[in-house]
Amino acid sequence: MLTNVLWRSVIWSTGLRRAASGKMRVFETKLNSKDLVTATDREIEELLIRGLRQRFPEHVYIDEEGTAGASTGRKLTEEPTWIVDPIDGTTNFVHGFHCSCISVGFWLDKRPELAICHNPTLQLVFTARRNRGAYLNGAPIRTSGQTELERSLIMQELNAANLGCEHRDILWQNAVGMLLKAHALRTTGSAVMDMCLVAMGAADGYYEFYPHAWDLAAGTLLVREAGGVVMDPAGGDFDLMSRRVLAAATPQLGNQMVQLLGDKQIYHQRDDEPQKSNSNSNSIFK
Ligand code: IPD
Repeated sequence: MLTNVLWRSVIWSTGLRRAASGKMRVFETKLNSKDLVTATDREIEELLIRGLRQRFPEHVYIDEEGTAGASTGRKLTEEPTWIVDPIDGTTNFVHGFHCSCISVGFWLDKRPELAICHNPTLQLVFTARRNRGAYLNGAPIRTSGQTELERSLIMQELNAANLGCEHRDILWQNAVGMLLKAHALRTTGSAVMDMCLVAMGAADGYYEFYPHAWDLAAGTLLVREAGGVVMDPAGGDFDLMSRRVLAAATPQLGNQMVQLLGDKQIYHQRDDEPQKSNSNSNSIFK
């Protein structure tokens, strides 16, 4: 079953590569002028959901573009659940920047069981199964093992949605704090790519206030199976629907990042709440 799903993902991903040469720069906007979607997002999501549903009609589906339909809701339950982001890094995709990934996570009993992240442009396929390790193109990967923030390279997403008045200062204070303390601060424009970099040891930590469940479902397992930790940015357990994440190569590094963030925390509307217009993310740009 796993091999089949993996191969389907790889084959469908070639569609992403083909699309990248042609129609990628044609996009629509969703919640605001910086929230982009392309025909390729919808095509890949439809292929994935249709294919998975043929095999697993009883399972629950949570997806970014809504292919699975509102009937499934966006609540994480104990049920077997596929969480799909057809293109994580859509803005990158539109601009031809090379960090766009197809990301699929399978969760059961509210725990991640299976993860697939495919970056077709860079030809990177990350996979993980619970208790069976994490892999890049079939070879095992481990986090860096870094325990010191002073010696770390940290990933952070500079999502413009966090520039709403009450969040602006927090965003910059955190960025400056990390920059001053760590070796470096980087951003890829793809939450799952950030987590894959932590999993493979190319980055040591990542945090973000804003990503959705579909941005994080696969990366969570990849980081954990590679030996890292995924937690809430204020410390405590990671909550997939909370739109808050902190991933680190080691618990020691994770705790130092939590300490540095301190009470400079941002909370967005949760993914499992009825979605209303989010003033934080929409009011600052049209
Ligand atoms: C976004 C990317 C981005 C992150 C946002 C995500 P999308 O996903 O992962 O890096 O900052 O939080 O929503 O919209 O490209 O699938």
